[in-house]
Amino acid sequence: MSERTYVDLAPSPSALVESLRDIGYSVDTAIADVIDNSITAESKRIDVRFSWNSGDPWVAILDDGSGMDETELIAAMRFGSMSPLEVRSSSDLGRFGLGLKTSSFSQCRCLTVLSKKDGAVNCCQWDLDEILNSSKNQWLLRLISGSDIAKKPILKTLKTEYFDGIESGTMVLWQRIDRLDTGIIKKNKEAKFNGVLNAARCHLELVFHRFLSPDSGKSKTQIYFNKSSLDAFDPFNSGRATLLPDENFRCEGETIHVQPYVLPRHNKVKSQAEWKKYAGQLGYLHEQGFYVYRNRRLIIKGTWFRLMPKAELTKLLRVKVDIPNSLDHLWKIDVKKSHAFPPYGIRSELDRIIGKIEISGKRVYKEEGRRLTSAVKEPAWNRIATDNQVIYDINKEHPLLIKFRNYLDVPQQELFSDVLSTLESSFPRAAYFHDVAGKPEQVESPEFEKEQLAALLDLFLGENTKVVSMHKLNELLQMDPFASNRGMTESIYEERGYYG
Ligand SMILES: Nc1ncnc2c1ncn2[C@@H]1O[C@H](COP(=O)(O)OP(=O)(O)OP(=O)(O)O)[C@@H](O)[C@H]1O
Ligand SMILES: [Mg+2]
Repeated sequence: MSERTYVDLAPSPSALVESLRDIGYSVDTAIADVIDNSITAESKRIDVRFSWNSGDPWVAILDDGSGMDETELIAAMRFGSMSPLEVRSSSDLGRFGLGLKTSSFSQCRCLTVLSKKDGAVNCCQWDLDEILNSSKNQWLLRLISGSDIAKKPILKTLKTEYFDGIESGTMVLWQRIDRLDTGIIKKNKEAKFNGVLNAARCHLELVFHRFLSPDSGKSKTQIYFNKSSLDAFDPFNSGRATLLPDENFRCEGETIHVQPYVLPRHNKVKSQAEWKKYAGQLGYLHEQGFYVYRNRRLIIKGTWFRLMPKAELTKLLRVKVDIPNSLDHLWKIDVKKSHAFPPYGIRSELDRIIGKIEISGKRVYKEEGRRLTSAVKEPAWNRIATDNQVIYDINKEHPLLIKFRNYLDVPQQELFSDVLSTLESSFPRAAYFHDVAGKPEQVESPEFEKEQLAALLDLFLGENTKVVSMHKLNELLQMDPFASNRGMTESIYEERGYYG
């Protein structure tokens, strides 16, 4: 070894930059990372524009935020423009000084940033092929003058369209997009490109829903995709969910706010479409859990951080957790802003909160179970719950069964009793549980014919079906099958003029 104590060992630009392309962004998370910067720059309107452009596609993210002057723009293009150790403003969505570059290069080989501030436009460009081919292997950032902008049709058109009329703003333009999976069939590539980008809408509608539709007093940001506006997707269906008591707890002098929600059950939503919408991408079972927001921006969703399993009975529980960016070091936020994990102290607080809310989540189901079995005075089925098991059996004292049994002689009565025992012992428990757990909204009872119901009514009302007491009618409404087919029974009452 030589006598030297240190050597200046800067990374090889081409090798480093090519490696950084693979830190795991998807097009959704990449666009979200660029939008983070626009939101930090207090933009009111952000436009994501994209075009297949006859096989030479481009994507541009444009904002009307604070913009950058020449010095700021050049600093912004540096990998590691700001250290994670530096203190940031509380509304800053950035952390590493990398996002603009790493997210862009995860998708394209040529990144151009044009920014306008105080009326002056500046523009510069990182081109991976220029870095790769540079003889001295240098970090060569191209500065693009006003006259050069005029020679680049896409840049020129977007600049004129967006920046001529505003004082400040920024455009991030991706060209030579080589990482977006558009398949191998040439004639389908354009549709695939548009499809992949449009699919990113859903991700952004969720990640930025608290900017698209802010709480009162917070600023609103509109986001457009090729001029069509994004709609906030609130994963808590907060207008209709049950709010459980919220909690604040402190960590390193900062406040963490926790707001649990129990989403409405499938029979409490307005429509099938509403139930489906809030099921989210993976369905209620998988989407339950904590939703962690850093400065109102969703970082991670649908996880209990291994504090409890994702159980069927808690599948309607979603818990909003608000953390400030000053605790980033504790949460292990990653470069893509798509991962976070709470440290021990916070986990134990969350564990305590889960202990309380888990019971509330389960109660939604249990109460309904109780309600269903107690509202009907004469159910056809009994639910018998003991300490460690639940049995469903046929109510052998049901008035209809008693009536029927009275028609039978003794051997027939015995046979009938065997028929009932066979039916209740062969209740398809496993299939029923599987269906209710997976798609409860699709589990229905076989439909009763109206004539059949009317005939059974006559059986209980006796000969004189013209004059019946209100008391008798109400009594029947609490007995199966009339209780389980209440709407149809009441319409028969109405047609027969029982309601006067
Ligand atoms: N649209 C924009 N408007 C104004 N300034 C911007 C914009 N985009 C980037 N900047 C500036 O460029 C800097 C670098 O952005 P970059 O996304 O690379 O890192 P960061 O946001 O600081 O941190 P992170 O790596 O967590 O995203 C930002 O800190 C900001 O000062
Ligand atoms: Mg950033």
